[in-house]
Amino acid sequence: MRKPCVVNLFKPASCLLLGLVCCLACVYLRAAPPAEPPRLVPQPMEMTPGSGVFEITGRTPIFIPPDCPPAKLVAETLNNQLAGTGLRLPVKVLTAASVRRAISLRILAKPDPKLGEEGYSLDVSPNGVAIAANRPAGLFYALQTLAQLLPSPAGEVKPRLILPAVSILDAPRFSWRGLLLDCSRHFFTASEVKAYIDGMARYKFNILQLHLTDDQGWRIEIKSRPKLTTVGAWRVPRQGPWWSYDPPQPGEAATDGGFYSQEEIRDIVAYGRDRWVTVVPEIETPGHSLAAIAAYPEISCGGGPFQVNPGSKFYGTIENSVCAGNEATFAFLDQVFGEVAALFPSPYIHVGGDEAFHGFWAKCPKCKERMARENLKSLAELQSYFIKRVEKIVESKGKKLVGWDEILDGGLAPNATVMSWRGTAGGEAAARQGHQVILSPSPQYYLDLYQGDPLLESNTYALARLREVYLFEPVPASIPPQLALGIQGNLWSESIPNLRQAQYMTWPRALAISESAWTPQTQKNWSDFFTRAEAQMQRLAIAGINCARSVYDPIVTPKKDGEGFLVLELSSEIEGVALHYTFAAANPDETYPAYRSPLRIPRNAAEIRVVAVRGGKPVGRQLNLPIPELAKRLGQPCKIYP
Ligand code: ACM
Ligand code: ZN
Repeated sequence: MRKPCVVNLFKPASCLLLGLVCCLACVYLRAAPPAEPPRLVPQPMEMTPGSGVFEITGRTPIFIPPDCPPAKLVAETLNNQLAGTGLRLPVKVLTAASVRRAISLRILAKPDPKLGEEGYSLDVSPNGVAIAANRPAGLFYALQTLAQLLPSPAGEVKPRLILPAVSILDAPRFSWRGLLLDCSRHFFTASEVKAYIDGMARYKFNILQLHLTDDQGWRIEIKSRPKLTTVGAWRVPRQGPWWSYDPPQPGEAATDGGFYSQEEIRDIVAYGRDRWVTVVPEIETPGHSLAAIAAYPEISCGGGPFQVNPGSKFYGTIENSVCAGNEATFAFLDQVFGEVAALFPSPYIHVGGDEAFHGFWAKCPKCKERMARENLKSLAELQSYFIKRVEKIVESKGKKLVGWDEILDGGLAPNATVMSWRGTAGGEAAARQGHQVILSPSPQYYLDLYQGDPLLESNTYALARLREVYLFEPVPASIPPQLALGIQGNLWSESIPNLRQAQYMTWPRALAISESAWTPQTQKNWSDFFTRAEAQMQRLAIAGINCARSVYDPIVTPKKDGEGFLVLELSSEIEGVALHYTFAAANPDETYPAYRSPLRIPRNAAEIRVVAVRGGKPVGRQLNLPIPELAKRLGQPCKIYP
């Protein structure tokens, strides 16, 4: 009889063998590298890497709770995310208490207070993927995390997908995680807006503020006011640096622009809803209204005629506010907000309120009469009167008012939520008065600003590099957490001529904003974030989303040394790079001198050329900076050449 192939563990020889096996196992275990945490953005609240993997094949079912259409939608979202891999998973209704070798989505019968409205738990083990949440939103966010756990698709068909074992418990820091898209200064088509929503949803943004009206174009069909789009949506075409354009010429046709029909608005809103992105409309008033008064000059102070501004300088010389003294203005706003409220399920309507020029109000008989009748002592009080009336209109349509922080001037409307953009001071002031606030301060959360050296980027106003955006803490300690509704990045489109450039300006800085919006503040860490952001930048590129790589570019900072000479400091936003430079007319690479300490300018040098090198190879773009430009940036007299 053949002996069974087992070892008697209690014989002395076997004990030796057992000892050897244990030792080897210990050596192996010690030598095995710890499982690398998945590179996720935003970083979850709690994450524990596990051991082993789960394989998704075309036969892996997604189980959803019975009678839960949003969960079905979430399952479909996962299938759409897998589209590039060729896998399409069967969606089945969950009946058993536990399932194996499946992806199961559950709504918790007994809500877990740690998860709130949008949190989730996600457990990947060799037995399957178990996702649970209090609400369908949590299931959706779990799937966004799951998508980042999957290997980067790179578009190729795969018979199976390997998920690393991990256990995640996650919930957002803020309930308002917004981005603003300015569709007025540049008109983005409905399908471009939807593409923008796709990018947002990946990173758990849940608010898209559409800046629908401004001096340069009115972008939403208002059926009771058709000229808003037949006239207000169109301007003369111009290209080049914004604010330098020629004004409309006599007889010139206004051919540049566009608007969303109400049908398209409903479509955008539904597209957002299916991705847990609420679209919040912004209708600017009383300022930023040149397109509105070009269409309906009777609601201006002076009566016009006006033309939609193409991006030329006009502020203070041409009216762009509606008249605060004229009842026709409020009748107009009642019609507009009535139609807007019916189109957008969002509980909020943003009414602008920023940068209203009051010079024409000061000269207007109707505005003066209003001030006298209402006993208003200043133009700021007139603006406050105006916004309070707008709040009544907005509330009569069943909505809540949000406005930029200028709505504080002259006194806040009773229930207003304040969006702080001139730094955080407006947010702090509003919170002191007990109002809710959203922090979207310039420069840190202004996605239209430079993210790299201005000589390498398109013309704009100021600088907000990725590192600064990430490290910025948006909520000052003086704002009680219960009044801080959330945060928002704003993409103004003066210098953004198309969707590719909109993506370039948004990503990767919106990754940083997403993490500040979602992840507990105490867990944020720049170098860890950047490693994870790099993985996401690759994913964005694979998804066809244009993502800037300016963070890899060198930074050259002019300083003055103790003897009054201009010296140059070279640096990088990221760790682990060397900066190689030359003052000669040549293109530096890793063989050129590496920067160690501030550099004086060699005699007659016309420019410095710098490149960042990582892993022995240049990364990012080469920066060529003329010496006179650096002396100008220093902003004070200095000696240049020894
Ligand atoms: C703004 O940037 N004027 C809100
Ligand atoms: Zn007036």
